[in-house]
Amino acid sequence: MTNKTTIDRRFFMKGAGAATFMASAASIPAISASAGGIGQSSSMSMSYDLDEEYNRIGFGNFKWDMINAQYAPHKVEVPMGVADMDFRTMPQITTALKKRLKHENWGYEAPPPDYKDNIIAWNKERYNHDVPRATIQNCLGVLDGVTSILRTFGKPGDKIIIQTPGYSAFFLIIDGERMETVENPMKLINGRYEMDLDDLKKHIDAGARQLILCNPHNPTGNCWTADELRKLGDICIENDVLVIADEIHCDFVNKHAKYTPYATIGEKYAMNSFTLKSTSKSFNLASHRTAYMFSDNTDYMKRVVEEGHQRFLLNYVGLLAANTAYRHGAKYMDDMQTYLDSNAKFLEKTLAERIPDIKYKVHEGTYLAWLDCKALLSKLDAQKMAEEQNAYNIENKVMVTDFFGVESIKHLDAGDYVQEWLVEHAGVNINAGEHYGKGGTGYMRMNLGTTRHKLAKALSNIESAIANI
Ligand SMILES: Cc1ncc(COP(=O)(O)O)c(C=O)c1O
Repeated sequence: MTNKTTIDRRFFMKGAGAATFMASAASIPAISASAGGIGQSSSMSMSYDLDEEYNRIGFGNFKWDMINAQYAPHKVEVPMGVADMDFRTMPQITTALKKRLKHENWGYEAPPPDYKDNIIAWNKERYNHDVPRATIQNCLGVLDGVTSILRTFGKPGDKIIIQTPGYSAFFLIIDGERMETVENPMKLINGRYEMDLDDLKKHIDAGARQLILCNPHNPTGNCWTADELRKLGDICIENDVLVIADEIHCDFVNKHAKYTPYATIGEKYAMNSFTLKSTSKSFNLASHRTAYMFSDNTDYMKRVVEEGHQRFLLNYVGLLAANTAYRHGAKYMDDMQTYLDSNAKFLEKTLAERIPDIKYKVHEGTYLAWLDCKALLSKLDAQKMAEEQNAYNIENKVMVTDFFGVESIKHLDAGDYVQEWLVEHAGVNINAGEHYGKGGTGYMRMNLGTTRHKLAKALSNIESAIANI
């Protein structure tokens, strides 16, 4: 192995990683943001300029600031891990918040009176979904709402099904409720992930009674079809399994795909489910901690209100931003979809033409690309290198601290090794597939919620780093 395939064990070589990727990037012509005839904002007749480079450094966000602190002295030039977006907030939201700031009092305040109207209008106009007004409830985030439902309908020790590769934080909240995550691995058929319903039945037979559905699915990007959802729903209804539909990514659908809300596929399915949504992904308002959930089954929601940990009042700033987003955001969201669809096409074309060690086909929904990096892992001998690194970490007590301040000896999976290698050699952060459960090894998740310029820069850096192996 040369030092071009290794990672810096203790990060003591100050600046070494940055120097490596900058020097190598010079040797190959850079990838242009307008390459391959795939346009940027200006050529897409958009009302909002999503090509604007907006500085996020220095405000304490996870994606830029925390990740750079974590990898220092290596510089993460293009962070594409954490699932938020780099664009300036829709201006109408800033205007509404500025106006409210002028009233310098922050006592108890009711949600904006038209908040539910705007939730209902958004879902009706965009998805022909009649959201049942009476059961709309606030939550501090989609995960907060899912937790509330899990707690209401389950108890510690219960088995909760998720479909994997699946969103990493589902594991955490299920664990937090002292419940057991049961993975229902998906099957990759002709390049598209499909649900494995035979495997699902086995978990249900073993006692699982709640399933978290992710639609569109993070990280594989599936927009589940009505037929797929009905097949899943039939099994759940027959076996008394509650469906918790996390549809937070519903507003991100690429041009060739369609999002079908779970609760619209038929009354019996709607009656056996909850749906959770928010403006936090769609309008990049995650720090406002504002989301909502509803169910056609009023008895179900009554139980959650009584037995879960429901919230009537949320942070008013978040409610105001969410309300403004839904009231004024249709064109912004259309532009965003066009832009992200084009980012996905740009990624597909660029990888195929210039970085054959990473494979990708334009996905259906979310702004997350699930990359097949098996050839790169093998080129880097990542499994062996991770094992060597782990042995070193144990011997030298190399520690890591998690979000909650808990320390443990640092452990790398093969994907984590590549994740670190890409930071050091390309200045790019994408997430190891192993974080998403079974079926994740060999894949990595790249967040496309950024400007074309940054995406092109990331790909240039990755291309040069791989060429230098
Ligand atoms: C599928 C999914 N659900 C929930 C969340 C988190 O939502 P919130 O911050 O509203 O809890 C995310 C964030 O990435 C997500 O991808």
